[in-house]
Amino acid sequence: MTPSEISEFVDKYVVEGIPKEHNDALRKMAESFAVTDDKMRDIIHGFHESMQAGLNGDRNALPMIPSFVRRRPTGKEQGTFLSLDLGGTNLRVCQVTLNGDSTHKLVQQKFTITKEAKEKTLFDWIAQCVSIFIEEHDVVPNSGESAVRCGFTFSFPIDQTGIAEGNLVMWNKGFLVPNTVGRDIVRLTQDAFLRKHLRVKIVAIVNDTVGALMTSCYTYPDSELGIIFGTGTNSCYWEKMSRIGKWKCDNDKTGEMVINTEWGAFDNQVSVLPYTMHDNKLNRKSPNHGLQVFEKMISGLYLGEVTRNAILHLIDQRLLFDGRSSTILNKSYAFDTAYMSEIVSDESDDLVEVKKVIQQTLEIPSSTLQDRKVVKNVCLMIGNRAKRLSAAAMVAVLLWSRDSHTDTVTVGIDGSMYQFYPGFEKSLYDNARPFLGDDFVDNKLKLRLSKDGSGIGAAIIAAVTSD
Ligand code: BGC
Repeated sequence: MTPSEISEFVDKYVVEGIPKEHNDALRKMAESFAVTDDKMRDIIHGFHESMQAGLNGDRNALPMIPSFVRRRPTGKEQGTFLSLDLGGTNLRVCQVTLNGDSTHKLVQQKFTITKEAKEKTLFDWIAQCVSIFIEEHDVVPNSGESAVRCGFTFSFPIDQTGIAEGNLVMWNKGFLVPNTVGRDIVRLTQDAFLRKHLRVKIVAIVNDTVGALMTSCYTYPDSELGIIFGTGTNSCYWEKMSRIGKWKCDNDKTGEMVINTEWGAFDNQVSVLPYTMHDNKLNRKSPNHGLQVFEKMISGLYLGEVTRNAILHLIDQRLLFDGRSSTILNKSYAFDTAYMSEIVSDESDDLVEVKKVIQQTLEIPSSTLQDRKVVKNVCLMIGNRAKRLSAAAMVAVLLWSRDSHTDTVTVGIDGSMYQFYPGFEKSLYDNARPFLGDDFVDNKLKLRLSKDGSGIGAAIIAAVTSD
């Protein structure tokens, strides 16, 4: 980094009134989390190389998984469908009625995924939730059909072999259900339905990003990308069949297909990402060590933990809270990303909200104003890095997927980071400017919340899928 770049990314985190060695440590930390425009350019380039290699079947590159979704929704799809949306935290069971005029009606029930389900009984637990929903909402098959048609949004990587077939590649986001990797998720779920005598047939399985894209396409036909910035992160986009070198399922290379990039796995070798000792600490202790490295730097499940590591690093050098930690702060994942949101949005002179989090949540009895400023700046550094990296990934896929940038493009986005992290959406626009140009960002790029996209999108795919 040149000295002027260093100062741009570092000086703003200096805190007045603290000893020089404290500020030196903050500067050093800020430098390690900095993502300059040049760095973003390298990351975008890295994405393009990895996307190309992944499309050609290189297993060390981005997964670039064909979704088997080949038809853009028209908004005219009709009917009532069940859909399941298994995310990192909740299962949503939905009944979706597509009205045929780009509008829909959604009835849904949310079930928080239990620890036991995440580690053992997932599929029977899903069947149990579906059974509760069916009973409470009187869901019955459409006339002439023997089972309720269901679309399943599954937010973990699967190697799809058909629209309703896909083998689990791996678990992430804290899931670890035994004897399931490599097996067909639809079969496992359908078997659990059978054990419960449920008359439900899964007719499509899609990644949550694909659900978000389909929902967006249903209303905005110019939708090109679906992105999740949430507990985890990922994207999908419309790709020309002729560019999917590894496609061998049929000889039809015409038209397009949605590709699930699984970008959370970008640069697992850490050759270009600005990876710090705090990321490394998280990664080393994680059950999916060495995997989903990019996801661990930007998504909601992990950001709080990277920040906790950075805060502890300052405490251990006696540069914060007089060197005192607390039982809570010493506990892995005790610092939720939602606290970062509270902290970075505190603009009060005394940082009263920051004080509250420090005292009430982290159970550190007292803090000076300088301590609070340091904590806020650490959160800002890590949050800003996440924003810049998120924008770099979005820009990379946008540049890849479009031959020219003359028309408008809608990106359907869902997830808690996008919805709730302060300034996240604005930063996507701002950080995209140097790469896409002001005119495109101001007039053509439309980032839109694909609200409940995962659930609705699965129903749309169920509607366009024939048995
Ligand atoms: C999963 C993706 C998913 C993303 C967002 C990642 O951990 O690997 O399949 O789309 O989270 O939920």
